[in-house]
Amino acid sequence: MTLFPIILAAGQGTRMRSSTPKVLHTIGGKPMLQHVIESCQQLDVDKIAIIYGHGGEQVQQVINTANITNNAETLVWIQQKEQKGTGHAVAQAESYIDDEAVVIIAYGDVPLIKTEVLSRLANKLEEATLVVLTVVQDDPTGYGRIVRNPQGKIESIIEHKDANQEQLEIKEVNTGFIAARGRDLKRWLNDITPNNSQGEYYLTDCVALAVKEGGIVDALICDDPLEAEGVNDRIQQVKIERAYQAMQAKKLLEAGVTLYDTDRIDIRGKLEAGKDVCIDVNNIFIGKVKLGDRVVIESGCVIKDAQIGDDCLVKANSVIDSAIIENNCDIGPFARVRPDTFIKENAKVGNFVEIKKSVIGKGSKVSHLSYIGDTQMGEDVNIGAGTITCNYDGVNKHLTTIGDRVFIGSDSQLVAPVSVGDDATIGAGSTITKEAPAGELTLSRSKQLTIKGWKKPQKK
Ligand code: UD1
Ligand code: CA
Repeated sequence: MTLFPIILAAGQGTRMRSSTPKVLHTIGGKPMLQHVIESCQQLDVDKIAIIYGHGGEQVQQVINTANITNNAETLVWIQQKEQKGTGHAVAQAESYIDDEAVVIIAYGDVPLIKTEVLSRLANKLEEATLVVLTVVQDDPTGYGRIVRNPQGKIESIIEHKDANQEQLEIKEVNTGFIAARGRDLKRWLNDITPNNSQGEYYLTDCVALAVKEGGIVDALICDDPLEAEGVNDRIQQVKIERAYQAMQAKKLLEAGVTLYDTDRIDIRGKLEAGKDVCIDVNNIFIGKVKLGDRVVIESGCVIKDAQIGDDCLVKANSVIDSAIIENNCDIGPFARVRPDTFIKENAKVGNFVEIKKSVIGKGSKVSHLSYIGDTQMGEDVNIGAGTITCNYDGVNKHLTTIGDRVFIGSDSQLVAPVSVGDDATIGAGSTITKEAPAGELTLSRSKQLTIKGWKKPQKK
């Protein structure tokens, strides 16, 4: 059985009130369309058609550069120039539909759709001519109603706008996802007419056409309506976002991670966590984040594209972006670790410390109020409070090199390019502009002076 998913994504999405095409709006940091593509790619498929319309170039560009697990070559982009309905949309893909293929129609704005549901939909076709994914909604307003005969057999789908009073009472509705054989689908598409209140070519008319031919139309009822729910506006988007985040949180709990509150964690990407990891409230993980065993993340951190080793403690309100932190490090509170930073094991980065594009050596400590940028730091270094690497001359960035076991006194400035040799000590309050030799004490400080017998000025 060759599966051929066709994803409808040409709709305008006016209700989002956005200049971004609807299917590029994100759930969990990933465009909705990409969620659907990935669910389809996990089926055994050679190609996936995407029917695009509004903002087509932007959609293709974002999706093609997005991190799709499988190859982007499987995607066939087909333009629907005018949006004349779901039936018209599918008809655009006609020349790609093989007679023998099992076509799965999916919507690009239904991000929580699962591979397993798509696969069950296709498998049900073994005993049917057409299979429709349906859900039972307490409030079916706006949806196409599944009309069944007294024996319970599906007869047609009637759109809300075309439904009579009796049909409006039906709570089983069409999700839009269907499966059918290529040959049948192409024949029905040719017979669909826009004779309805909206003047559109309804894909849903395939149901009545199949029944008329004596075919069997079956339904797969989706247990969790959220999995088949489309996003048409920002209200639905946030509802689906929260549902997605709840699913992510549940997966973490199942994997043995401690979360203090499943409603106060956001994963916009992929979070991998080792054993006995503990995550406090209000943390946001973006991109690819990997946490080692026994990592503790206190509250309020934003961690993006980072790798954090075993036994690390990330204290409250720290921001870590594109960094590698080895085992047993202490970060924060209120630390900012910027891209291209490599913090080696047993190191400490304390409060109000910013590190950019630097290596912090094994066991080194930058405990308070410092800026370390473009720096290569050795092992067991101690950086005093308020130390600044002056890496920028207003035009270019320069390197600071600090050897092993260096002690930098508080409130020092290292004016790059500059180097401090192994075992050197820098006196507090120094401005270092030349090489500080290994093993020596270097300081630049005006001599302290006391004026004896000096009198305070008196008020006149
Ligand atoms: C459609 C179904 C309805 C179902 C509902 C579920 C039809 C006629 N109606 O209604 O039974 O209950 O979905 O949400 O199929 N699209 C195109 N090109 C078009 C029109 C739509 O690509 O010309 C795409 C949209 O981008 C969207 C999907 O098809 O992803 C559904 O379109 P939408 O306008 O939301 O359909 P509804 O009228 O809500
Ligand atoms: Ca819709």
